[in-house]
Amino acid sequence: MKSFNFNTTTKILFGKNKAEEMIPEIKSRGNSLLLAYGGGSIKKNGVYDKVVSLLKDNNIKFKELSGIEPNPRISSVREGVKICRENNLDFILAVGGGSVVDACKAIAAGVSYDGDPWDFMMMKAKVKNPLPIGVVLTLAATGTEMNGNAVISNEETLQKRPMGAPSLCPAFSVMDPVYTYSVNKWHTAAGATDIISHVFEFYFTPDKDAFVTDGVAEAIMKTCIEYGRKAIDSPEDYEARANLMWAGTLAINGLLSLGKTGGGDWATHMIEHEISAIYDLTHGAGLAIVFPAWMQYVLDEDNAWKFAKMARNVFGVKIEDDIEAAKKGIEEVKKYFKSLDMPLSLKDVDIDDQYLEEMGEKCTLFGAVGVMRKLEAKDVTAILKAAL
Ligand code: NZQ
Ligand code: ZN
Repeated sequence: MKSFNFNTTTKILFGKNKAEEMIPEIKSRGNSLLLAYGGGSIKKNGVYDKVVSLLKDNNIKFKELSGIEPNPRISSVREGVKICRENNLDFILAVGGGSVVDACKAIAAGVSYDGDPWDFMMMKAKVKNPLPIGVVLTLAATGTEMNGNAVISNEETLQKRPMGAPSLCPAFSVMDPVYTYSVNKWHTAAGATDIISHVFEFYFTPDKDAFVTDGVAEAIMKTCIEYGRKAIDSPEDYEARANLMWAGTLAINGLLSLGKTGGGDWATHMIEHEISAIYDLTHGAGLAIVFPAWMQYVLDEDNAWKFAKMARNVFGVKIEDDIEAAKKGIEEVKKYFKSLDMPLSLKDVDIDDQYLEEMGEKCTLFGAVGVMRKLEAKDVTAILKAAL
């Protein structure tokens, strides 16, 4: 097991009726904030009314930024930066799913940066002194509520790229599973797919000696399998929503890379981002298509043991030969995505081969991607072709 430092700065407020507890957290950081949200789900499910009455009752001034898109756009980030500057706001409260939270992180970084916030995504600028942000999470998926990452789309260049800094970790995240009851079947399924995919990204590394970290990863995978379909069928099943919500956080708050090499593989995420950049596809749906294709592409004699380990420990595969067990495990992953009614091929979401070469080039803009196997542009295109 490799040595590591682990430090997380986000206070988690998890459970029913926890929103009240964010007020002292906000007040200790300022008295005026940007209240940012998406296309209106929080107005339908009552979360907006709850948050606004809490802010008003506690004399916290706020300006609103609404309409942040799924696959959040740089134009929304620029607008948020403008509102924060014009009103001299000292805090950002993100109320929504990963898209809203990610946009808020980029806004937080953009306020203290003189140039265009897209520079962060193009690695031309580093995050310095961002505004503090808080989160009221309404969708279990990305884990952004307890990490310093954000993924932003540029609608002009059709790029979707990550940025990140430890200082972008939210100060707090309110995680009330009841707020996720209104998430529809598609986004619940895409969320469960995203969560298990984050675990895959951390799990599939060449390390042979991080038993405990891999064991935690396997438990989170099993949680997605146990509760993904249940949350779709019974949207108000508290245990299902709560377990998925916490699984989503644990999957990508740093825990699953401890004692292992680097920070995970992430090639599949990079490839998926190229799909959603061009086609505005739901992130989790793109992962359901790409992950099995990536697994099949990178599987070889040297790494089969790891795929076999997942097959045996998570899916109960009883095959002795590693390669055969690994192949069966990949089939089980596909079956799981199918059981959530996720698409399994690009054809299923009406995507053809028009941009596959371009996606390969854009995905490897800053060099080869992946750890399990380093992928060049031609490999990315081959994986996408296999996913057609
Ligand atoms: O916009 P509104 O009206 O709020 O509706 C949203 C949106 O249409 C809706 N929704 C959210 N909470 C709801 C709800 N509908 C009903 N009831 C609720 N309680 O769900 C739709 C999707 O929301 P979105 O925020 O886009 O989903 P998600 O949380 O999956 O976020 C996806 C984005 O996060 C990025 C993805 O690439 C994508 O852009 N990711 C961010 C990561 C990170 N920061 O660490 C890691 C991930 O791998 C991922 O790349
Ligand atoms: Zn993801």
